[in-house]
Amino acid sequence: MTTKLYRLTLFAAVLTTSLARHFGGGTINWKPVEGYKVEFVFKMGWTYGMGPGCTETKIGQFVNGPISGDQTAWKCTQGCTGRPIISNASYYCMGANQLERWEQGQMSFNYTFSNPGPFVAAFEGRKWMALGHGKGSGPWRIATTIDLRTRSDTNTSNSSPVALSQVIYYMQYDCHHELQIPVLDPDGDEVLCQWAKGNECEAVCNGLRGARLIEENCTIIFDSTATLGYKDGEMYGVALTIHDYPQTAITLGGQDRKTPMDSLSSVPLQFLIRTPAFPTACNERPRFVSSTPQQGSKLTAQAGDTVSIRVVADNSNDFTKKISSIDLMGPVDLHQSALMPDPGHTNTFFKALTWQTSSADIGEHIVCATAVNERRSVML
Ligand SMILES: *[C@@H]1O[C@H](CO)[C@@H](O)[C@H](O)[C@H]1NC(C)=O
Ligand SMILES: *[C@@H]1O[C@H](CO)[C@@H](O)[C@H](O)[C@H]1NC(C)=O
Ligand SMILES: *[C@@H]1O[C@H](CO)[C@@H](O)[C@H](O)[C@H]1NC(C)=O
Ligand SMILES: *[C@@H]1O[C@H](CO)[C@@H](O)[C@H](O)[C@H]1NC(C)=O
Repeated sequence: MTTKLYRLTLFAAVLTTSLARHFGGGTINWKPVEGYKVEFVFKMGWTYGMGPGCTETKIGQFVNGPISGDQTAWKCTQGCTGRPIISNASYYCMGANQLERWEQGQMSFNYTFSNPGPFVAAFEGRKWMALGHGKGSGPWRIATTIDLRTRSDTNTSNSSPVALSQVIYYMQYDCHHELQIPVLDPDGDEVLCQWAKGNECEAVCNGLRGARLIEENCTIIFDSTATLGYKDGEMYGVALTIHDYPQTAITLGGQDRKTPMDSLSSVPLQFLIRTPAFPTACNERPRFVSSTPQQGSKLTAQAGDTVSIRVVADNSNDFTKKISSIDLMGPVDLHQSALMPDPGHTNTFFKALTWQTSSADIGEHIVCATAVNERRSVML
């Protein structure tokens, strides 16, 4: 009997108007299918109207528009002959907000390499928007490393770690913040998050001044204060590189030794943080309430089951504010209802999620929910 772990990780954040231009970050991960065939999954954010064309009414659909201003695609940039295109940037629309001017989507694709590698697959372009602390206004790059040599411990090829975030988090100006990024590894390897550097992040390296990163649980801690150079309403870029490390010493391809200090692969995660000032205390923010599953909780289902969850949010210390949206990132076939008021609870709203699973979904999946109120607030 096959079981599936389904991991739900929840965050609450506020959104106000965004001035994002063009590329808004993204991530990619992969797993071996058979032989040297690899299945990749990428998620990306764009300024509304500048990406493949996700809109509010197209959520769940494949969108295929040309990307404004750039002929850009996923390419194998190391280990292949030449720099072959392995996928274009078209994707399934996962969320969009015209007012806040962003769209996001995800796509999976297969690519068959001609040998076990290692390889680098990258998505590169020229137009990161201008960001705070003098960052952005330049090239972007998100890239992953792939090594298909057989692991001595699992007798199969490695799978990369998986990380997920929203395109933009709105985190109140002049407050203390802790943001936990959900990560997992299908092989049970140790996963560490690090700040991206050099060509891992191009124009958005070190974009969050004074921030601390707890590598083990991928938690970013920072104070959005004037002392540290943060500004009311400014946008900042965050670029992480996430590596997996074997729990014990292993070999790859029968000879190349990897100790628990040696990374097996890496994936990128780049996203935005905006720091608007609000006339309210730092602790008045949206929160998820019962019957939302606990943050990080795992639901286990048989392949073929339909998983149903309700994600419910209110506005903690200030119930005069409504929840205006709940944004979700998760498996492509996760179906979400419209945002609905929760009967009997003032200004409390929910979305019903259903996921019809199939044997292709076996493995762990992350769902990332962000609750947004009418005017302000931050992380849970
Ligand atoms: C991207 O590739 C997909 C799948 O091969 C194809 O359906 C789509 O038309 C392509 N999109 C563009 C903009 O070329
Ligand atoms: C990749 O290939 C596998 C097995 O051949 C198939 O089950 C899967 O649907 C393919 N994925 C995509 C995105 O085409
Ligand atoms: C490892 O894989 C090889 C080739 O597929 C197979 O012959 C062998 O029995 C496997 N060993 C284990 C321990 O699973
Ligand atoms: C992350 O780890 C640090 C240090 O061990 C701990 O203090 C913190 O509570 C953890 N954060 C989360 C969100 O688990």
